[in-house]
Amino acid sequence: MDRRNFIKVCGAGAAALAAGVHTQLVYSGTAKDFARAKLVDADGKPLKASALSKDEAYVFGYPFAGTPAFLIALPAAAPASGSLKTESGEEYGFPGGVGADKNVVAYMAVCTHQLAHPEKGGSTEMSYSAGKSETAGRAVAITCCSHNSVFDPADGGRVLTGKATQPLPGIRLEHDAATDEIYATGMYGADFLDDYFKKFKSKLNKEFGIGKYREEAKDTVQAVPLSKYSTDIDRC
Ligand code: FES
Repeated sequence: MDRRNFIKVCGAGAAALAAGVHTQLVYSGTAKDFARAKLVDADGKPLKASALSKDEAYVFGYPFAGTPAFLIALPAAAPASGSLKTESGEEYGFPGGVGADKNVVAYMAVCTHQLAHPEKGGSTEMSYSAGKSETAGRAVAITCCSHNSVFDPADGGRVLTGKATQPLPGIRLEHDAATDEIYATGMYGADFLDDYFKKFKSKLNKEFGIGKYREEAKDTVQAVPLSKYSTDIDRC
């Protein structure tokens, strides 16, 4: 795929990130292709879309081992894929729901404000609430307790409230109707992964082993409940 069509972090955004302030990302409506990886559980058994818990998000490393994404079974069908606009008017694409009920979606679990994310075996300020959360004031929301940002997983990952001004990048999923299995195939949204790796390199090396956080998902990727991925979940 022509990388010019994909989204890039703008120079101002990179500088802002380095300074530890708000991350400004540039969006487009195009997804970038990554490996088609089947989602499996901790024992290597394929996850079935119709058997996913609706009570919490699953975490899987996609498109790289060290880039956590949320897999969420919504209580109702998500809109078909499409595009929305950011606050500054940029168009961005998002994937629709998959599965027999069209209710399974996935997003990067990395906050677009200052890149907070679930730590493997550590803490997380990013989480999904199926029930009503205080910060969101509603059910079915992804919250980042770092600065109280709320994202809507049932509407393209758009920002509902908080410091973040840009949506969560969506992960494109495929569903095999014959087997009910789920595959991740690509990523929408802003390409901030290099900046993310730079910012968290030392921590990611400890979590995954030296350099392993950059290993790209291949044939299968494990998706585990957030409560098993991170030991300390901040709820707000
Ligand atoms: S990192 Fe600031 S709201 Fe998420």
